[in-house]
Amino acid sequence: MKKIEEGKMHVPAIKNGSVIDHIPVDQLPKVVAILNLYASEYPLTIGQNFKSKKLGKKGLIKVEEKFFTPEEVNTLALVCPDIVINVIRDYDVVEKIHVQLPDRITGLVRCTNPKCITNNEPMQSDFEVLDKKQVRLKCNYCTRKIEKDEVELTHYKNNTHS
Ligand SMILES: Nc1ncnc2c1ncn2[C@@H]1O[C@H](COP(=O)(O)OP(=O)(O)OP(=O)(O)O)[C@@H](O)[C@H]1O
Ligand SMILES: [Mg+2]
Ligand SMILES: [Zn+2]
Repeated sequence: MKKIEEGKMHVPAIKNGSVIDHIPVDQLPKVVAILNLYASEYPLTIGQNFKSKKLGKKGLIKVEEKFFTPEEVNTLALVCPDIVINVIRDYDVVEKIHVQLPDRITGLVRCTNPKCITNNEPMQSDFEVLDKKQVRLKCNYCTRKIEKDEVELTHYKNNTHS
């Protein structure tokens, strides 16, 4: 049997699709949730605890035949600004998308104010992004400010990113 070279590809190559790389291991479920990947019909590989020079251990996700728009992946900056989406065409990395928070986030994050209308009516939350690097959000309904470690995702199944 052929010995796999250390540091080389962790899971089989894909011909066309996306490789989401440099995911902090503890954030892997959130990445899956934000992109709604379990709802996707494309072949999906989720890798955990792979060796990484930068992170020590990392998570990595491969989605065959799926090409994300920057808008679809930008909210991943909520969980980690260092995540990179590699666009694979004909087995080669042809583009790297670096994530950056948009100016506004709708229907993805729960407002921490239990009295906020978005927690009491069947409606989407809506935040203005105050700080894209540190991650600070402001609810457009009740003005509650949310810091990075308070970010909780709403019913992500309603986010049809797939
Ligand atoms: N055809 C492919 N199928 C599946 N995964 C791939 C394919 N090509 C590259 N990858 C994976 O995509 C990621 C990025 O590949 P790249 O060759 O850019 O590596 P890199 O130079 O280490 O990039 P970075 O600096 O972003 O870590 C790696 O995890 C690599 O294993
Ligand atoms: Mg690398
Ligand atoms: Zn609110």
